[in-house]
Amino acid sequence: MTNRPQVLRTVAALRRAMTPYRKAGRGIALVPTMGALHAGHLKLVAEARKRARRVVVSIFVNPTQFAPTEDFGSYPRTFDADMKALTALKVDAVWAPTVAEMYPEGFATRVAPEGAALAGLEDKFRPHFFGGVATVVSKLFTQVQPDFALFGQKDYQQLRVVTQMAKDLDLPLKVIGIPTVREKDGLALSSRNVYLSQAERAVAPTLHRVLKTSAQRIKRGEPIEMVMEEGASDIRHAGFTLDYLEARHALSLKPVASVKDGPIRLLVAAKIGKTRLIDNLAV
Ligand code: PAF
Repeated sequence: MTNRPQVLRTVAALRRAMTPYRKAGRGIALVPTMGALHAGHLKLVAEARKRARRVVVSIFVNPTQFAPTEDFGSYPRTFDADMKALTALKVDAVWAPTVAEMYPEGFATRVAPEGAALAGLEDKFRPHFFGGVATVVSKLFTQVQPDFALFGQKDYQQLRVVTQMAKDLDLPLKVIGIPTVREKDGLALSSRNVYLSQAERAVAPTLHRVLKTSAQRIKRGEPIEMVMEEGASDIRHAGFTLDYLEARHALSLKPVASVKDGPIRLLVAAKIGKTRLIDNLAV
């Protein structure tokens, strides 16, 4: 019989549980999530297992990274199904604090990331987002004290922000980005895909298709600006409201004019119906 992971709800219980893990050596890997786990998250867990003896998954829908107009209230919460999946993967512990445990009365400190967090991508449309993410992720790192933390490359700007934050704050852990898991038709897995109607789901893979074609064209030497304009037009024609389609330096996320400017990452965010999707691809 497989053991259910221990579920920890308070910082005190988490600390008690982590002490023997740390003493046993060979590492602790943390997979931070907001639950509603899909195959992309489970890949992170499997990769965590390869790197560390103990795997901790956090499940916390973090209110500080949602604007009042966003879907904090309706964000999918599937704790029982999540636990079943994590039990099958032999996860050691699930850190699932309440909002009051994470942000107790009087909480008054925030982490304010700059650099990639102000690249004019997600931050332009969700100005509150990276402050909320950086604050909660720095708390998760301090609480669990992992040797490794694994994040999906689907949230590419988030991965860059968290990697830089860990470096800047001298946090003694390695942040690892894991490639995006996709449906057969290219759609990046996301907990928000459940919001898509059948018709929206049918056009959703357009984003990946445009990224792929654009990356090939830029690699062949076509001008980036023209490729981005045509890609944007294809996305709009498919029925999306486009927030951005951009070619950026893969590390700094600064704008690039040509392939000579360094490794390039294409990033896109667009709304179909009420659902906002993001994706990205290396050139
Ligand atoms: O990517 C997510 O699920 C969240 O932004 C994270 C990293 C768990 C922080 O709440």
